[in-house]
Amino acid sequence: MLLCGALLAGCGGVQSALDPGGPVAESIAALWWVLLAGAALIYAVTMGLLFYAVFRRHDRRARLREGLLIVGGGLVFPTLTLVALLVYATDVGRRVVGLSDSPALEIEVTGHQWWWEVHYPAAGDDPPVTTANELRLPLDVPVEVTLRSDDVIHSFWIPALAGKLDVIPGRVSVIRFTAGREGAYRGQCAEFCGAQHARMAFEVVAESGGDFAEWRRARSRDAMLPVEDSRAAAGRRAFIDHDCAECHRVRGAVAGSGEGDRLTGLRGPDLTHVARRSALGGRTLPYSRENVARWIRDNQQLKPGNRMPDFTELPEETARSIADFLDTLQ
Ligand code: CUA
Repeated sequence: MLLCGALLAGCGGVQSALDPGGPVAESIAALWWVLLAGAALIYAVTMGLLFYAVFRRHDRRARLREGLLIVGGGLVFPTLTLVALLVYATDVGRRVVGLSDSPALEIEVTGHQWWWEVHYPAAGDDPPVTTANELRLPLDVPVEVTLRSDDVIHSFWIPALAGKLDVIPGRVSVIRFTAGREGAYRGQCAEFCGAQHARMAFEVVAESGGDFAEWRRARSRDAMLPVEDSRAAAGRRAFIDHDCAECHRVRGAVAGSGEGDRLTGLRGPDLTHVARRSALGGRTLPYSRENVARWIRDNQQLKPGNRMPDFTELPEETARSIADFLDTLQ
C-alpha cells in the first residue's frame, strides 16, 4: 500500500505527464496508459504460460506445443497488435504535432545555458513582451512555440501540456499545444546541457483570455524610474555603475538598454518586470527582495557555473539597494 501511494504520488502535480492540462497531453497520457495496460496484460499471460510449462505434468505440458500457440500466439497476435499500435500511435503523433490546427498565438523561446528567454512578438494590437523563465498562455487558444538555442542542445518540456522537443543550435523547431485547464504548471529542460541543467526550469501559467490580455499589456510597458533620493534610486545608480545593464535590460529605467538587439544583445534575462516573477535563476530561488540581494552576491554558490559574475566583493548594503531598485520593477 505504501509503495502504491509513493508511486501514485508521481501521477499528479504541476509537472506530471499523467495529469494532463490540455488535449495534446491527454492524447499522450492515453497512449501511455494503453501501452502500460497492454504490456501488463501480455506480461501476465506470458508468465502464466511459463509457469504452466514449468510446473504442470508432462502430459498436460505437451498441449503447449500445439500449432495454435505457436502460429496464433507467436505470429498472428504480435502482428495484429503491432499494426493496431502503429495506427493508433501514428494518429496520436499527428495530434501531438498539431499540424492541422492553425495557431492563434505565437511565442518565441530561446534556450540559454541555463535559462529560457521568452518573447511574444507584436501581433495586431497586441504589444511585444520579453520575459524570462515564465510562459503565460490564454486558455483554449492553440499556441505555437518557436524554439531556438543560443548555445547547446536543450529540450523544451512542459509535461502536463505537451510532448518534449529538442532545441538545437542553428535550427528552428516548432511545437504546438493548447492549455485546457487553468492553473500553474512547471516546465523543465529535458536534455542534459551542462552543470546546471536541472536549474533550467520555468513556470507556465494558463489563465482566461482577459487575464492574459491584461498581463500582456502590463508587461509591455516600460519600467518607471524610481523616485529620486530613494534607496531604489541609489540601487539604480549602483545597477548602472556595476555594469549590470551590460547583460540585463530594464526597458525605460536604464539608459542604453533599448529594443533592437533582442536575440543576441541580451546576455542575461530581461529584468523590466522582474519583481512580478515567482522565482529567480531558472527557479533556483523563490522571488523576494532578500533573495535578489542574496543572488547578486552568492549566485556562483547558488548556481555554480552560471554566466553571471560573482559579486561576493560587493558590499551587502549595495546589493540590498540594487535589490530595492529591482523590487520596484513591477
Ligand atoms: Cu538546458 Cu538542460
